[in-house]
Amino acid sequence: MPIFYGKASLMEHLKSIKTAQSTIGFVPTMGALHQGHLALMQKSLSENNTTVVSIFVNPTQFNNAEDLAKYPRTLEADVKKLDNLDPKIVLYAPSVDDIYEGNVESQSFNFDGLENQMEGKFRPGHFDGVGTIVKRLFEIVEPTNAYFGEKDFQQLQIVKKMVSKNGLKVNIIGCPIHRESNHLAMSSRNERLSANERDEAAIIFQILSTVKEKFPKESTAKISEWVQKNLEKNPNFALEYFTIADEATLLSCSRKDKNKKYRAFIAVLINNIRLIDTISLN
Ligand code: PAJ
Repeated sequence: MPIFYGKASLMEHLKSIKTAQSTIGFVPTMGALHQGHLALMQKSLSENNTTVVSIFVNPTQFNNAEDLAKYPRTLEADVKKLDNLDPKIVLYAPSVDDIYEGNVESQSFNFDGLENQMEGKFRPGHFDGVGTIVKRLFEIVEPTNAYFGEKDFQQLQIVKKMVSKNGLKVNIIGCPIHRESNHLAMSSRNERLSANERDEAAIIFQILSTVKEKFPKESTAKISEWVQKNLEKNPNFALEYFTIADEATLLSCSRKDKNKKYRAFIAVLINNIRLIDTISLN
């Protein structure tokens, strides 16, 4: 499998294989690859001539030093998974210096308010970091299509906003959430959970499924109260936020409008490990 550690050699390689008709699919990741990541790659492989995957734990999107330090880094195992999936995948695994050239700082973005909700409230600066890295990666890879998971739905909307506001020539394709057999959303952070915590974390999706049933019948305030009470029955769990929001604006929904699409979003801390999940409600 071709692996590039520097942008110059990657760009040269991509230039050599690019033709007027060929397409490049791109899947940016932070590694510790799981089936959720691989599904994005499978989709890209089926829709493009070339698929580029990046693995880069981006320091500017972490607002918590411990979270960055403890983020799993498993490049050797990741390379094996990619090679098994398709040895033609082009891997870009840059160093911090290759990306930031000595200036590890975020650019500041305006995503029309999308950045102020949920993850943006609880992780200050996070989306400036995401915008900075995704924009740089797009400049390096120049993809035709780029694939993002709905697990990070706010990130997906923000990337779409960045592309439309800057007139970038890339199609952003959202992909469904992959789950463990107990329906826990797959995440690289799940590796930090004990077996018992993983079992207990099944409650997150159970709660979201019940929220979906309750949504047509109950007020969002009443649903939110119910979520808080049920989640925190387990003393190891703390609810960071639960919101029902309009998919387009991410503003929380106070009155339901039949013409809008809504989604429930949740962030939970299990003994300081932070998990997020989301479900479409209508
Ligand atoms: P990372 O958390 O590694 O995720 C990479 C991509 O995989 C994201 O688009 C994410 O939404 C998707 N993904 C993760 N878990 C998924 C699941 N269970 N089902 C479906 N898709 C899933 O998101 C990032 O990295 C970074 O913020 C990044 C975009 C790479 C910028 O640094």
